[in-house]
This record gives sequence, structure tokens and C-alpha cells, in this order.
Amino acid sequence: RMRQVVAVASLLWLLLLPWASAVHRSDFPAFFLFGTATSSYQIEGAYLEDNKSLSNWDVFTHVPGRIKDGSTGNIADDHYHRYKEDIELVHSLGTDAYRFSISWARILPKGRFGEVNQLGIKFYNKLIDSLLVKGIEPFVTLSHYDIPQELEDRYGAWLSAEIQRDFGYFADVCFAAFGDRVKYWATFNEPNVAVLAGYMLGTYPPARCSPPYGSCAAGDSDAEPYVATHNVILSHATAVEIYRRKYQSKQKGSIGIVMYTTWYEPLTDTPEDRLATERALAFTVSWFLDPIVYGDYPPEMRRLLGSRLPTFSPEERRKLGYKLDFIGINHYTTLYAMDCMFSSGCPLGQWTQQALAAATGERNGVPIGPPTGRSMFYVVPDGIEKMVTYIMKRYNNLPMFITENGYPQVGEGYTNAEERLQDQARIQYLDGYLTKVAKVIRDGADVRGYFVWSLLDNFEWLYGYTLRYGLYYVDYQTLERKPKSSALWYKRFLQSLHEDQ
Ligand code: NOJ
Repeated sequence: RMRQVVAVASLLWLLLLPWASAVHRSDFPAFFLFGTATSSYQIEGAYLEDNKSLSNWDVFTHVPGRIKDGSTGNIADDHYHRYKEDIELVHSLGTDAYRFSISWARILPKGRFGEVNQLGIKFYNKLIDSLLVKGIEPFVTLSHYDIPQELEDRYGAWLSAEIQRDFGYFADVCFAAFGDRVKYWATFNEPNVAVLAGYMLGTYPPARCSPPYGSCAAGDSDAEPYVATHNVILSHATAVEIYRRKYQSKQKGSIGIVMYTTWYEPLTDTPEDRLATERALAFTVSWFLDPIVYGDYPPEMRRLLGSRLPTFSPEERRKLGYKLDFIGINHYTTLYAMDCMFSSGCPLGQWTQQALAAATGERNGVPIGPPTGRSMFYVVPDGIEKMVTYIMKRYNNLPMFITENGYPQVGEGYTNAEERLQDQARIQYLDGYLTKVAKVIRDGADVRGYFVWSLLDNFEWLYGYTLRYGLYYVDYQTLERKPKSSALWYKRFLQSLHEDQ
């Protein structure tokens, strides 16, 4: 009975959608790109097929205990074999663009120390061509967390300046192979998460940590996240230099970077917490963007970290001069920031410990917004408006894309498949956030596109398959894809040209 009530209620709700929706496609500029996003490791599977080598994530997920449900990306959504079907889904949504990433280990199994894998090139050629046939713009990330394990084993990947040459070579191979058709390139996805989780918290590969987090392997030091970041930033600059010099004038594309962004509100209205909020933002977002746009690390960081933060040599500064064409913003949640400079007993703030600020989702026991299926992820649509405004002001309104925004649903505990498809909370989330994106554009922000994370349920890193972000549901037994209510909602939204429609 309950199930019937839910089904009928959600059907009614769906019928009412065009009127219930606060936001319409016509609230956005005509050239605006709407899309969905995925990444290679999270959807492709085929982890050892067609000459692909092991990536750092293949090796990491095979260590027992690393991933919540003990799963791996060995098969994931089997997108490698089902890409045509998936492009059909992209097409049926009526989106303009599709954001995906290239598996570095598929293209260069041994990095620059081996051959280019033509079978890897062939796969992405087929993917790109099938998108273009349907009129869908490919928006391509070069490295979405995954790198060939070979680079880790040979020289310690991001801890070595050598990786700059490897990344430059990989980028060059991709621009040469795909750049005639790909007009949007992102060098990295969320490198701020990759280095903090990989070199501070020790929760992502290569699982190194810095005091006071975790139990650190011998040799791990609290400077490692900053060294790794230095090499990521210079790898980005190397790729941009290659693009500008060899390809851009002919291929006429643009190149940027994608950052993970949390908006922070001060926990209390005191100067201490307000300053902590600024530090939290500087230590997470400006850490990468200041050097890329202005040639040096944020002063807020230098002040606290001193010589633990590397310095850019004159040659490195010259390279940074190639900058970027757009800033990609992944945004999901807002948290409170509190000062840890003077007070003792601050809880460890996940991303912000070095900034002497801690993050929390609650004030006096009241959450900052409705909770989602994931801890520390709250629904606070204002956060995206404030985040975009912060980036717009700090970086002179450079073109921006919302490269990810989405809602995590707990994958277990459903009584039947039907209920998993009724994702009203996701619809409300997307509707709320899109409304704020439209508003910030009206207020002058140069935001040029928006991508929902994700097209389909997939391997959610440490959570394995226990968290679902998809507009399409994936049955991991049969690998069947089914539209959730949110897929139908997005499709309707994309067709909604007028307010009275
Ligand atoms: C950010 C990452 O780019 C993506 O890989 C991940 O699945 C989503 N956020 C959700 O956590």
C-alpha cells in the first residue's frame, strides 16, 4: 500500500514538474552548455583489456580494506563495451555536452617509457565520433585521479618533477589524436582532493599521510602535499604551454582545470571564524588557482606555511604565464568553518587542518542544510552562488563551468527497484542549485556550462558502489541502465524554454 502511494504521488509530482520547477532553460544564455559528467575509472571497467596497464586506482582498490564494499573498478559500468548504449542515454536527455575523462594507462600503459597504445586511441576516437554524430560536444578531462602505476613505481609520481614531462607527453598525444574534434580540455579533475587524500589523509593512492593524520609510513612528511601540488600545477602549465604552442591556433579549443570547491560559512560571527573561513577557501581552492592565474601561492598560505610551501623558480614562473582559459568548478556542499588558531581541541577539519581551521556541518546541533546520503554533504543552494561569486571576484571573472554538481543517494536499504528510481530529493537538489546558477549569471558571472554528476550510477571511490549519483540507475547484477525520475526531470528542464510552458 505504502509503495503504491509513493508511486502515485511521484507520478503526480512528475506531471506537475514543468510548473513546479523554479528554473527553466531559458533562464540561461543560448550558448550555455548543459551536460552530464563521468570519469574513466568510475565507469569504464575493462581494466586489463586491449593493452591497458594498471592504474594507481587499480592497484589501490585491490588492497583489501581500502574500499567500503570491497569492490573495484574492474568492471564498473562496463562502459568500455557499452559506450554506444550510454551515448544513446546522453542523447535522449537532450544535453549539449558530455564530460568524460581519458584513462592515461589506456593510452600510455608505460607512460613516456613505452609505446602509444593504438587500441586505447581507437576507443576514445569511437567515443568522440559517436558523440559528435549526435551533436554532443565532448568535454574532456586528461586526468581524473587515475595515472599509470608505472609512474608511481618508477619515480613516486607527483612527488617527482619528472611527472611534468610525463603529463606533458600524455597531453601532447591526446591533443594530436583528438584535438581536431575536442574543443574543451581540462588538465586535471580535483587535484586538490587527489593530493590531500593521497598525501595528507592517506585515504587515496598512493596512501601517504602527513602528521597529524593517520599512521604515516616512514618517510612521509608534512611537506608532501605541497610538493605534490607544485608538480601538479607545473604539469598543468606544461600541458597548457604545449597546447598554446602547437595546437590552439589550429584547433581553436580552450583548456582549463577543474577544482573541488566547498563553500564555507563562519561558524560564529566573530573575526576569528571569519578569518578561518577565508583561510579554508584559500587553502583549498586558491592554493592551485592563484599560482595558475597570478604566478604564486596565496599570501594566506605563505604566511602560515613559510618554507614548507615550495617557491616557483624564474623558469617555472615563465611557464605559469600560460595560465588557463576557464575554471571548472565541482560543487556539492557547504560547511561551517571555525578557527583553530588559538583554541585548542578543535576537531580535525578534513581539508583544512593546515589552515588552522576546522570544518563542521552543524551549529548547536542544527545541520547547515538538509543532509544527503553522504556525511558532510548538505543541500545549501546558496553555496554555489557564493562560491562562483568568490571565484569570479578573485579571478577577474574568467570563464567558468560548473563541471560537477549532484546528489548522493545511499545505494542500499531499498525494498524494491522501483523506489530506487524515485529520486525526488535529487530533483529538488538540482532544481535548487540550477536556480542559483541562473541567478549568479544574471548578476554578471561568466558561467558557460553546467554538468550533472553523474550520467549513471558508478564506482564512487572509497564508497565503492554504495553511493549512487546517477540520473540513470545501474543494476550491478545485470548492468542494465534505467532512468530515474531525475533523468526525466532533466530532460523536461532542457526542453523548458518559456516560463509558462
Ligand atoms: C568529485 C569527483 O570528481 C567525482 O569523481 C566523484 O564521483 C564526485 N565528486 C562525487 O563524489
